[in-house]
Order: sequence, then C-alpha cells, then structure tokens
Amino acid sequence: MPPGTQQCFDFLRERSEMATTAVAAPSGYTGLYAFHKYWGKKPHEPIAFAIEQLTQEGQVVLDPFLGSGTAAREALLRSRAFVGFDINPVAVELSHLLIKPPSNNLLREAIKQIEHCVKEIILDSYALEDNETKATHYLWDGDTLKSVWVVNHRKRTELQPTAHDLALSASFAGYKSTRVRPPRFFTNARINAAPGLTLSDLMTGRAQRNLDLLIDAIRRCPDEVQHALNLCLTAASGQMTKMVFAVTGRGKTNGEKSSKIEVGSWVIGYWRPQLHFEVNVWNCFERRLKKLASALKAGDPLSSTLLASDISEVITGKSTAYIGRGDCRSLLKSIPDSSVHLVITDPPHSDRVPYLELSEFWNSLLGVEPDFSAEIVISNARERSKSVKSYIEAMRGFLRDVTRVIHPEGFLVVLFNSRKKKEWDIFRPWFDAPHSEDKEPLRYVGHFPCTYSAGSVVQDNRKGGLKSDHALVFDRIDKPSSNERHLSILSRIPGWSSQPPSLSTEADGK
Ligand SMILES: C[S@@+](CC[C@H](N)C(=O)[O-])C[C@H]1O[C@@H](n2cnc3c(N)ncnc32)[C@H](O)[C@@H]1O
Repeated sequence: MPPGTQQCFDFLRERSEMATTAVAAPSGYTGLYAFHKYWGKKPHEPIAFAIEQLTQEGQVVLDPFLGSGTAAREALLRSRAFVGFDINPVAVELSHLLIKPPSNNLLREAIKQIEHCVKEIILDSYALEDNETKATHYLWDGDTLKSVWVVNHRKRTELQPTAHDLALSASFAGYKSTRVRPPRFFTNARINAAPGLTLSDLMTGRAQRNLDLLIDAIRRCPDEVQHALNLCLTAASGQMTKMVFAVTGRGKTNGEKSSKIEVGSWVIGYWRPQLHFEVNVWNCFERRLKKLASALKAGDPLSSTLLASDISEVITGKSTAYIGRGDCRSLLKSIPDSSVHLVITDPPHSDRVPYLELSEFWNSLLGVEPDFSAEIVISNARERSKSVKSYIEAMRGFLRDVTRVIHPEGFLVVLFNSRKKKEWDIFRPWFDAPHSEDKEPLRYVGHFPCTYSAGSVVQDNRKGGLKSDHALVFDRIDKPSSNERHLSILSRIPGWSSQPPSLSTEADGK
C-alpha cells in the first residue's frame, strides 16, 4: 500500500460520517490548518461537506479566492480535481503547502542543515555576559531596554539589563536587512499603516540581521522544501517584531491586579506598542519548524499530489491540482465552459480585512510583489480607490464571469456576510429575480450558516463582530432536475433556508 493510503482511508471514513451538525459547529484548527495564520480563515467542515455532497470523485472543484487553501485541501482529500487562484502571494504559497506538503524526512534534514549553518551565530546575538546563557526575550519601553528574560522550561528569570546587554543591542542598531524587500504601505489608520512605515519601524536591527541569516540558510536547502521553510519564517515573523505586546494587569492576586508582565502576540495590523518584547528570533523560527514537523509527523496523504503546470492538465484529468497567482477574473478565462462541478469560494467581504495590506509584511519577507491594483477589496486607504461601489461592481462582474465555467449540473457556493446592507447588493439580482435564463443564468437556491471556528484569533473578535458567514448556494437555471437530490441533502443542515439571509438582523443599514 503506498505511503499515506491508510490515513487517507481513515480520513475519508471519518469525514463521510460527519454529521450535518458539524457544519454549523466547527471544531478549532489543528494540524496543518493551525500552522499559519491567515486573515478571515474559514473552518474546513462546511467546505468539506459541500464538496462531498455536491460533487463526485474526479470532478473539478474551483476556488477563485483561495486564501489559506482550505477548499484545495478538502477537495483533494476527497479525490476531486482542484483549480484555485489568489492574488495574494502568501496565500498561494500556503495553499501549495496544504495540497503538497514536503515529506517529514526532507523537512527534518533541512532543519538540521539550517541549525548547523546559523543557529549558533543567531543565538550569540542574544548572549548574556557569561557568553553561555542566551536571552529569550528583551522587554523594551520605547527605545529603553527595561529587562532581559531567560525562560527555560517555563521557568522565567528576569534580569536587569547590564552594560553588556545594552552594548550588544546597540551593536545591531543600524542594521537594515538586505534580503527583505522594503515593504509598501498605504495610509490606513484602521491597521495603523502609513506610507512612511519601514521594516526598521517593525523590527530591531538584531532581528533583521538574524532574519537575513535565516533567509540565506533557507536558500541553501533543497528546492522541494524551501517553500515550506519560507512559510515557517512568515508564520514566525510576527513574533519577531516590535509588535509583540507586553500584557500587563492580567489576573488577580489577593484581589489586586497582578503586576506580572506576560508575553503577548502579534495579532492583526501594524500596532507598535510602547511597551513591547523583542523575542529571540531563533526560538520563534524553531517553534514554527517544530509545529510543521509535528503536523507532518505521521506523513501526509497529499505529499504526492500531482501539481499541474497549466489548468488544461486538470480539466483533462492528467494532473489533480492547479494553483494560480493573480486576479481570478483574468485567470478564469483559461477555464473551458461548463467544466467545473463546484465553485466554492469565500471572497473578500466588509472593509475590515485589506488582505494585501495586512499580508505585506509576509510578502516582503518572501520577496514577492503583489498586484495591489487588481485586488477585490474595500480599503480605508484612500490612495487605493477601493470603495464599496467598485467592490460591488467587481464582485458582480466576477459572479457573471464564473457562471460560464459551471457545469449545467454544477453549483456555486459563496461564503459571505456583511453588516452593511449595501454590500448585499452584489446578490440582489439573484435574490430578487423572477428567474429568466437570458437575464441571469444562475438561480439562488438557499443558504446555510457557516460559523467561524472558536480558535480563530484573526477573526474580528470585537463586540458586535460577525460570528458566522452564510453559505449562499446557487445552481444553473438551465439545470436538469437531478440537482433536486443534492438540494434535499443541503436542506437537512440546521439553519438551512431557501430565502435570502435575513438582512434586517444582520445589516444595520449602512
Ligand atoms: C476571505 S479571503 C479567503 C479566506 C479563505 N477562505 C481561508 O479560509 O483562508 C479572500 C481572498 O481573496 C483574495 N483576493 C482578493 N482579490 C482577489 C482577486 N482579484 N483575485 C483573486 N483573489 C483575490 C484575497 O487575497 C484573500 O486571500
């Protein structure tokens, strides 16, 4: 039996027993899904359910707004063929990892090689006066070093900075990375970004020097594993910055708020707190490497995925998956008419997640330039001219274009939600339609709730933040009656409704 086959069988059995209730109550992220943050990441359960119920093995599933690649992985795990696009380079890298992770052996060899090349020199940049002990964290109040921490097996020693610690930090002060592309920021107060923001505002000179060493060491590793290692770097990078909050006043001792400081984490946006940590770069990177190695420990059923070099290979069944980087509206043109059985996608919605602006730090580490102009998004950055109006136009255009590729028996499932009534205008022609084939070839058939995973730290957790999406289901108006069987399955999902989502409660009218 080829490696991974048994796991694949187990996986399929477990998944095929998945009750419809799991769709509405997803578990948290584990394994490969927990390895890297992504903005607006969705749980796999509803996506898996839709793929399983609405397609057969071998049929083509398409996600034109891939994000972290959940639909890609869920489709391949169920022996469907898959085509996916995203304009965000880091999303494309992540999706590749999810559908074709490297073998654990290859990863372990690469880890050894990187350790051998740079671990010692990086750790030396955190050496205390005895030259033996290495600092794990520095606590900074603005530019003043307040405290040096050595955390070992959860035991923390907090030390007053010595002249040696100050001199060591100062020796890296002017360092500017030569490996990281200078990031490009726009004027967006919502994520605390501005055009003048530089890498040195986000990272100390020492962190930049150590990042350069890691990037060089990764470039010397075998090609097959470099992508995964780069993602370990991006996954760890937030924790390497000055954006790591010092959490104060948490918990109570004898009724008093504790004065103990804890290490926070970088969550979303480019906030640079006055009181912050500089965390040992090697430790951050190593933690991510271990997390990935652990997710791949037992082997992955998708390690031998056949990746296509162009879409036609997937459509003709020669390869199983194609992932393309760019504007989905252009990339869609390469897909033949009526060749996709399920389009399942989670397009950008609302103005809270400007994906490319938020991912710019990661993309600068990867050394890739995204196409900001073609992003479909609403952004507060005025210079980008990404308004609600242009967003609605782009999404309507996309919905019309995508219809062409859907098989007559196929479906379109769009995960969507917004508190802004206006944004629902995207779907108005389909919600309101007395259906007429020459007007709108898609028919709205209903929706079911798609709750966010509890463990998602990058969802909007503010008061009043949305807690779920609607999975809006469409089929082709010229469909044969065979779709009725699928629809009876969907209608068993708790919360299924054939009406448009109730906007009066979800939208506050703006
Ligand atoms: C809501 S996110 C998808 C998140 C995904 N469901 C997940 O679980 O990670 C929307 C995605 O659309 C992508 N996007 C925005 N404009 C695009 C365009 N014109 N073409 C392709 N992708 C685009 C963004 O980069 C982002 O990754």
